[in-house]
Amino acid sequence: MENYTEKHTVLIVDDEQNILKSLSRLFEDEEYNVLTALSGSEGLEEIKSNNISLIISDSRMPQMSGIDFLEKASKISPDTVRVMMTGFTDIDGVIDAINKGQVYRYIEKPWKDEEIKILVRDGIKHYELLEQNKYLTQLTMKQNTELKDLNKNLEKKVEERARIIIEKNIKLEQIFEVLDKSFVETIRIILKVLEIKDEKLGAHAKRVTSLAVLIAKDMKLSEEEIRDIEIAALLHDIGKVNMPSFILFKKNDLLTIDQRVILKQHPIIGNLTLAAIDRLKNAAEIVLSHHERIDGSGYPYKKFGDDIVTGAKIIAVADTFDKLTSGSIQGIHPIEFEEALEDIESKKGSSFDENVVMSFSKVIKNVKNVTKKRKKREVDIKELHEGMILSANISTKSGIVLMRKNDIINEVMISKIKQYVEIEDLLDPITVFEK
Ligand SMILES: [Fe+2]
Ligand SMILES: [Fe+2]
Repeated sequence: MENYTEKHTVLIVDDEQNILKSLSRLFEDEEYNVLTALSGSEGLEEIKSNNISLIISDSRMPQMSGIDFLEKASKISPDTVRVMMTGFTDIDGVIDAINKGQVYRYIEKPWKDEEIKILVRDGIKHYELLEQNKYLTQLTMKQNTELKDLNKNLEKKVEERARIIIEKNIKLEQIFEVLDKSFVETIRIILKVLEIKDEKLGAHAKRVTSLAVLIAKDMKLSEEEIRDIEIAALLHDIGKVNMPSFILFKKNDLLTIDQRVILKQHPIIGNLTLAAIDRLKNAAEIVLSHHERIDGSGYPYKKFGDDIVTGAKIIAVADTFDKLTSGSIQGIHPIEFEEALEDIESKKGSSFDENVVMSFSKVIKNVKNVTKKRKKREVDIKELHEGMILSANISTKSGIVLMRKNDIINEVMISKIKQYVEIEDLLDPITVFEK
């Protein structure tokens, strides 16, 4: 910005030396540098080599008229304030020049000293305003440019940061994928231990899992909750692994009191087995309570209502339903879907949670409708998806039964079948009930 403490320069142009002298004298008391020129062309030279704030020019000069001179001056230094000095006879020409914007004001000859001093002071102020305005405009433009550059840099930095975060996330996802696969693998191994103990225990666990997951989904539980329930359902009877088979597969009423006490320990043993693994803590909690009943009639701790975690309430229903309909455990006679459904519904609000039973009824009626029609179709392994119901056992050529008729397919089962098929062909094509 121009330093306004510096003196302003005033240029006076007139072909009469006397006028130049008397005007110069007039401004001696003022804080201006005064330059003089005897003609328009001389005046233009001064403008080119000096920073002029204000010009006072005579209108009538030989060679170059005042109007022509000021017009040329405006092209060299547009902000310089231009004042025309004129006799009364030239007034029309001056007005024309003012209208064309070439002249700021005019002074009539002969002038009054005080008037011309005020006019020049006003003109200088006008010049300062113009310069300030110019400076501020330039400053704003400069700041805008700087701001744009800053924004661009900021955008680049944000983009760069986002790119780094995305890259890190991808790496993390890859790590989690590996961890997840090994985690699922661990669960499969634990499940295998259950199957080795007895195939019936493994098959029961898988059927309970399919049903429990369907109930949990119908109850609109979160993905994490459903995952915990799935794991807990698969492993809910893991505490039975070390128990003697004659206790596990004997009718309840034929068990001695001691044997019953041992059997009822399986939720605690299962809980202790799983709780040691950090990612299985929630599943361990569910396993601990899968034989609790909301009226406090269950075991091992006779918990009531909401003291029992939702996952355990769901598995309680799925487990009971499977025991009633498969009959494979503890040698009881299997009963029909409808009868089992009726039995469970009759215990709604006493043994079993109301919401769980409501979802269970909905889910199981749907499954029943599917199986009732008994229409079967062959499916390729690639077509298998969650919720399909097997219409026949899936066995390998060497006779290993992988899944049983009426099993509800889930993702764990699908990947297990895929794994087996890589090793050994299936005995028959896979068939499911049509929906
Ligand atoms: Fe159990
Ligand atoms: Fe069970």
